[in-house]
Amino acid sequence: MTSHLVIRSSANGAASISNRLIDAWLAAHPGAVTERNLDAAPVPHVTAASLAGIGRVAPEGRDFAEARALADRLIAEVMAADVLVFGLPLYNFGMPSTLKSWFDYVLRAGTTFRYTAQGPEGLVTGKRAVIAHARGGKYDDSAGIALALPHLRTLLGFMGVTAVDVVTAEGIAFGPEAAEAAAAEASARIAALA
Ligand SMILES: Cc1cc2nc3c(=O)[nH]c(=O)nc-3n(C[C@H](O)[C@H](O)[C@H](O)COP(=O)(O)O)c2cc1C
Repeated sequence: MTSHLVIRSSANGAASISNRLIDAWLAAHPGAVTERNLDAAPVPHVTAASLAGIGRVAPEGRDFAEARALADRLIAEVMAADVLVFGLPLYNFGMPSTLKSWFDYVLRAGTTFRYTAQGPEGLVTGKRAVIAHARGGKYDDSAGIALALPHLRTLLGFMGVTAVDVVTAEGIAFGPEAAEAAAAEASARIAALA
């Protein structure tokens, strides 16, 4: 059975378009599901108290130990999944800071990637990612303005996840009818992905 790790990061709750797209994906692609809702339960920002805990070597200390345990748990969830499903709202032209914090815990040298003489190598291999992107405006993805998607692709590629499908619902801020049309069309597209 396919196992999905779902990472939600919208602060819009039931009105979230990225969450709606994730739900459409899950309805059409049954399997085991592990959920991380970073809105309901955010991963803390990296601080001086936690930084050492998420790195390669965990030193002694209570703060470090808590951060280490959380990072270990998040990484184990990634490693156990066949498909990583990301909700990706566009917030101020980037990804939500909650999602960035999740990556700060998951990208660990020696565990999810490593440096070699030939350059960095991703260690999270054999997985697929599906990105459910939602944004208020409409953008040319090659223009370098809306940066959430290229950033997420870079992070996934760095970990070794190169099989990535993206479904984008955009123009969500152009009124309720435009939002509903974009969400419905994108929901159908994500459900139809092989
Ligand atoms: C804090 C915040 C910042 C946002 N920044 C942008 C932005 O830079 N560009 C844009 O097109 N839409 C922006 N939006 C609109 C969201 O991208 C849009 O509402 C999208 O549907 C959010 O995903 P969600 O529906 O899953 O929450 C922003 C929304 C919020 C709440």
